[in-house]
Amino acid sequence: MVKIFDEISRTFEEYLLVPNLTTKECMPGKIDLATVITKYKRKNNQAVKLNIPIVSAAMQAVSNHTLAIELSRCGGLSFIFCSQSVELQADMVRKVKAFKAGFVNSDSNLKPDNTLADLLVLKQKTGHSTVAVTDSGEPNGKLLGIITSKDYRVTRDPPEKKVSDFMTPFSRLVYGKVGISLTEANDLLWQSKIDCLPVIDSNRNLVHLVFRKDYTEHKENENELLDSNKRLMVGAAINTKDFAERVPALVEAGADILCIDSSHGYTEWQGETLKYIRKQFGNTIKVGAGNVVDPEAFLYLVKAGADFIKVGIGGGSICITREQRAIGRGQATAILDVAKARDEYCAETGIYVPICSDGGTNHDHQIALALAMGADFTMLGRYFARFDESPSKKVVDGNHYLKEYWGEGTNRAQNWQRYDLGDGKNALIFEEGVDGYVPYAGKLKDNLALTLAKITATMSACGSASIKEFQQRARLTVVSPRTIQEGGVHDVITKEVGPER
Ligand code: IMP
Repeated sequence: MVKIFDEISRTFEEYLLVPNLTTKECMPGKIDLATVITKYKRKNNQAVKLNIPIVSAAMQAVSNHTLAIELSRCGGLSFIFCSQSVELQADMVRKVKAFKAGFVNSDSNLKPDNTLADLLVLKQKTGHSTVAVTDSGEPNGKLLGIITSKDYRVTRDPPEKKVSDFMTPFSRLVYGKVGISLTEANDLLWQSKIDCLPVIDSNRNLVHLVFRKDYTEHKENENELLDSNKRLMVGAAINTKDFAERVPALVEAGADILCIDSSHGYTEWQGETLKYIRKQFGNTIKVGAGNVVDPEAFLYLVKAGADFIKVGIGGGSICITREQRAIGRGQATAILDVAKARDEYCAETGIYVPICSDGGTNHDHQIALALAMGADFTMLGRYFARFDESPSKKVVDGNHYLKEYWGEGTNRAQNWQRYDLGDGKNALIFEEGVDGYVPYAGKLKDNLALTLAKITATMSACGSASIKEFQQRARLTVVSPRTIQEGGVHDVITKEVGPER
């Protein structure tokens, strides 16, 4: 006979937090947003930690190396998508691990016989005003000179003028040698009164550029998520098919943490993938699993060896899993139920397994609700797809900019049989996601700062100085439809419709 859960399936919007006493210890400026991402023994907390409780979704439209670098610099973590070849994914991981704050790869490069016209086209394309001139025109070619906007006058110089005729030649350049520290590089920039310092190797090949303008920004990024070698941290998604090939390549590339990516995680394939990883790598590789929405599935993956569990089926903004397969559960109920199982498991075994709320978090206050309900961190797709750093295309729609955003279960993303049930015969025959747009929102860093300010304001109102305290102290109330109506703007004529909040 069918089992019907006692608890009705509810979403975040059906709850509100009731404030607690706000003490001086939990003023917004004092709140610690660090959180655990991997399991640990209660007596000996050696979990991997995030500096903020936010990770980006393993999706083609979201988590490439560019977004991963920026998010890690802000204290969070990206899971680089696995719906691509092993080589391309490993290459993205490598790019994040090779990133050194302040040392950038030269994205705009020309050969000496290129012309002013070529330079203007390149500038238009990349938006960069500093261009390196190398023998091959490649970012790591032999450095011959540097061009900045001070070196030419579009109104006077003919378009066919060769860049070698107006660049600052190598003989007059101030440069650093590979191995130079960021502090030394910045000192050279200041002493020489220049804006850009090229760093070269012993063969005079260009390795990096260091910009004066990045100095202040770097000083401001004190929340960076770094590994023990002071490199940015990055996650990578895996699937239950090619793990024997993908996992070693990602580990070799330097991925700090892996996650099995699937809309339905309570499967033998996930169990086998986890067992393979434990057998091959012991506990050295950290790996999450999911997605699940109930305690039974949570315990299955925990016992199979997962380091964290992702919770959420059918709530994603681009997701049509519930319509297509009638599987899922309201995100709030799923989190509350799994968090209870997580705490019971911890009380029994002394092992705490973090949970991640994945999908359907469309407003900043829902991140706070997810944490209050017991999530240790949240995974966001739509949120990050809107930013400059995401890999998706920016398009114009009337007076607005949009960015493309598509699900991993769309035909567009699905070259990788993520939804295949394992025997190779059930490759995707229907879509589980849609292909659409989200409003363009600018820089990740600016938006994230606002989001974190709102989360800390909520935690402060709930008398909590840390995420652990928040989970323990939060008091929730279920709201009636009339209460939701009361909470919105009502009975006034608003002057204008502002940007999406
Ligand atoms: P969002 O933050 O609401 O946009 O949800 C992102 C989450 O949706 C991802 O982390 C995945 O768990 C899930 N997801 C990604 N692509 C699809 C899809 O095509 N169908 C269903 N769920 C998806």
